[in-house]
Amino acid sequence: MSTLAIATAREVFDLLREDLVAVEQELGRDAASTVSTITEIAEYLREGGGKRIRPSLLLLGAHLLGYSGPGAVRLGAVVEMVHTATLVHDDIIDGADTRRGRPSANTKWGNEKCVLAGDWLYMQAYRVALEEQSLRILELLVSLTQQMVEGELLQIQKLGKAVSEAEYYDLIYRKTACLFSTSMRMGSVLAGATEAEEDDLATYGRAVGLAFQIVDDVLDLTASEEVLGKPVASDLREGKATLAVIHSLDHGTPRDRQAIQRILDDRSFENVSRGQIQDILARNGSVEYARAAADRYAEQARNALASLPDSEFRRALLWVPDFVVAREK
Ligand code: IPE
Ligand code: IPE
Ligand code: MG
Ligand code: MG
Repeated sequence: MSTLAIATAREVFDLLREDLVAVEQELGRDAASTVSTITEIAEYLREGGGKRIRPSLLLLGAHLLGYSGPGAVRLGAVVEMVHTATLVHDDIIDGADTRRGRPSANTKWGNEKCVLAGDWLYMQAYRVALEEQSLRILELLVSLTQQMVEGELLQIQKLGKAVSEAEYYDLIYRKTACLFSTSMRMGSVLAGATEAEEDDLATYGRAVGLAFQIVDDVLDLTASEEVLGKPVASDLREGKATLAVIHSLDHGTPRDRQAIQRILDDRSFENVSRGQIQDILARNGSVEYARAAADRYAEQARNALASLPDSEFRRALLWVPDFVVAREK
């Protein structure tokens, strides 16, 4: 098979099937607390499913570098729990009422309990990670969590503002791409990777993560809630300018800018409709612009794998960026 061959979705799924079942089992064990409310919330979150993309990446990276042992499944569960904790807090901050096609946890249990459940999940993730007895792994997790929290905080500071592309990229690196990159690093650490291998995989993770959030932000503007399973058109309503919107702010007419700024100020579509925004974005080619940026990161991700050994795991990693940019939810 050629070194550039890319796996299909089915091949990737087959490759990961057993490990992902084990990750689910680990997550099931980890969702239990002596306090029943915590267990209820943690179980509800776990049952909600999700794409499990972060554990999949960690597993593929670790196996690509020859790792076989229980650590990859455990750390796969760890990154999924960190992800889940950030989602619980994010939905509180964003006031979101749906997640993964169901009522969000904050809608069912209220903000107070969910803040605490989120904190508990972070700590549960660290507790499981401790089983690796690796200071390096813990250090990665601590820096990751700080970056993610800083990202959400920076986002709050910038609400309602016409941010620059540089600010946007800094933000999405912290809140999303850092977790992708750290998942790849943790897989590499398990496998005893060289510094160069670890850096290649981290670069890959960062690029996949940036593409992932750019697409998430595009879907917020273009998808329907039924397909996405979470609120749509919510970023503008929350005062967040994402890449396509930033493009129209930078390249649109003064009236386009005014209309967008109005929504960022109002935090509602009362004075400027969602349809008007879609017209502005269409006229400026802004969604295509954002999608092209995501495509470039997908390409960057694939290129980052060039020096790594060819195998079914590398072919699977080559598939992920395609999946990320083509996904509908
Ligand atoms: C949602 O992540 C949060 C973002 C970083 C955009 P996912 O889209 O991976 O969420 P699930 O886990 O599949 O629900
Ligand atoms: C990503 O931001 C959230 C986290 C990294 C926690 P969003 O606010 O865009 O995520 P969604 O759209 O609610 O999933
Ligand atoms: Mg959100
Ligand atoms: Mg979003």
